[in-house]
Amino acid sequence: MANSRLQGKTPGRIETPFYAINDTGFPKTGLSRIETPFYVVDEALLEKNLRVLSYVKKKTGCKILLALKGFAMHSTFPLIKKHLDGVCASSPHEARLGKEKFGKEVHAFAPAYSENDIRGLLKTCDHIVFNSFAQWKKYRKKLKGKVEAGIRINPEYAEVETEIYNPCAPNSRMGVTLKNFDETELQGISGLHFHALCEQNSDTLERVLKAAEEKFGKYFSKMKWVNFGGGHHITRKDYDVEKLCKLIIDFKKKYGVQVILEPGEAVALNVGFLVSSVLDVINNGMDIAIMDTSAETHMPDTLAMPYRPYIIGSGNPGEKKYTYRLGGLTCLSGDVIGDYSFDKKLEIGTRLAFTDMAIYSMVKNTTFNGVKLPSVVLVKKGGKAKVVRKFGYEDYKNRLS
Ligand SMILES: Cc1ncc(COP(=O)(O)O)c(C=O)c1O
Repeated sequence: MANSRLQGKTPGRIETPFYAINDTGFPKTGLSRIETPFYVVDEALLEKNLRVLSYVKKKTGCKILLALKGFAMHSTFPLIKKHLDGVCASSPHEARLGKEKFGKEVHAFAPAYSENDIRGLLKTCDHIVFNSFAQWKKYRKKLKGKVEAGIRINPEYAEVETEIYNPCAPNSRMGVTLKNFDETELQGISGLHFHALCEQNSDTLERVLKAAEEKFGKYFSKMKWVNFGGGHHITRKDYDVEKLCKLIIDFKKKYGVQVILEPGEAVALNVGFLVSSVLDVINNGMDIAIMDTSAETHMPDTLAMPYRPYIIGSGNPGEKKYTYRLGGLTCLSGDVIGDYSFDKKLEIGTRLAFTDMAIYSMVKNTTFNGVKLPSVVLVKKGGKAKVVRKFGYEDYKNRLS
């Protein structure tokens, strides 16, 4: 989730001129003919991010996995797997998707596994990371040396201000703290894993690494790999890629281990949009546009973080001539995306494009109120748009009984 999400700022990098809204909708592509709402992902932008990640891999020899929790649009996997080493999964379903559709390495981590989870993961995973020594001891015999095992450690240091996104907050359930680290149970453990970043630059990683090394450094050289988790905003314009490379190279040299990164956001940062139309404009103390989308169902992080997504061509309230509150389709009174201003009046049918909607929005959306899910559109490298998935009544019904 872009720093824009945490800090409510406008992202600086919008590089698709053909997405710009004008009176005729979207010129150059077939997007203006596609029924809204839809998420649209641009392969050329995705590839641009992947080239940055490939550079890091090449320069450092680290492995980079796609975190499926952040981006799981599998029609793009043929492109992603040309660059990345595999996926990291948070559940047997994600792991199965990774195995079936990505087909390279599958790593898993969850705060706890049931017997059933482990049965499923054993069919699909190369690495399973445990969140406690109790879980490791419970399942280690089942792994039979066929799957590499890891322990998630908690370095008890993070610089994440939003509490629900801070894995190292006091009393966090994420990872084993030094106090609970049982060095007598490391037989069969080939790696350690930590995740303590959220949309952060490599200077924060440097400080997190320092904390992790101070606490767990003596165990690192006993391992085959150390996984630095996700939250590295590597493809953001101001990200210091060279510092990241240096940190990885130095770490590998110092401890003689493989380094693994598992970003979600950095893979698909700024490569997707949610396109929506105005259904009605009403007034209650201010102009309110009701969209054919919803914060609650189609962009849930706008309420969870909360943050105000950027809309192409928009300004802050009052900055441009016409100011509107944009509201969603559900019964939730707070289903409000935010207040925006525009140069032109919003009319019924005006299309608006919300930026940076490939990550987390697509995997977290819901059908609350029976609201239809947005279609999924892929813009191929030549600029041709293809609807890869449409959703309907069956998708809503099949989630229920
Ligand atoms: C264990 C773990 N790995 C990777 C990620 C991916 O993080 P991001 O999408 O911020 O890069 C997360 C995100 O919550 C995570 O919890």
